Amino acid sequence: MNERTLAIIKPDAMAARRAGAILSMIEEAGFRIRAMRLMRLTRAQAEGFYAVHREKPFFDSLCRFMTEGPVIVMVLEGEGAIQRWRELMGPTDPAKAPEGTVRKLYGTNIERNAVHGSDGPDTARFEVSYFFPGVELVE
Ligand code: CMP
Repeated sequence: MNERTLAIIKPDAMAARRAGAILSMIEEAGFRIRAMRLMRLTRAQAEGFYAVHREKPFFDSLCRFMTEGPVIVMVLEGEGAIQRWRELMGPTDPAKAPEGTVRKLYGTNIERNAVHGSDGPDTARFEVSYFFPGVELVE
């Protein structure tokens, strides 16, 4: 099924100048990039984006991390894009990520894990519209 998913290159990977390498992996994996923004999240934007994690012990630290520097936010499209981007990222904890995944290559720890991806169709819809409200995605 053709799908869209939200991807974020997080502040750790941006600071380490890995954005280009990660974009190359995305292109080589065959995703179409439908929208892209370079932005510095405000605290309110980070809190709203991660609202489902509000009660978690790591919420404050996660929001501080996500606002510490610029991020690249993207809409990726392709067959099974949600699951395929999750596979290319690897699991949340880079220590558990298989060789060749983005998080294995560029993640530092379970929080500073280089990239984000939507975890399912409902989340993808919410997350895409969160950063690209009403935007007509490039065909
Ligand atoms: P992400 O896929 O963006 O979704 C939620 C984020 O919270 C996750 O990546 C990590 O950056 C962070 N996170 C998840 N679990 C933990 C944890 N146990 N400790 C610290 N940060 C976490």
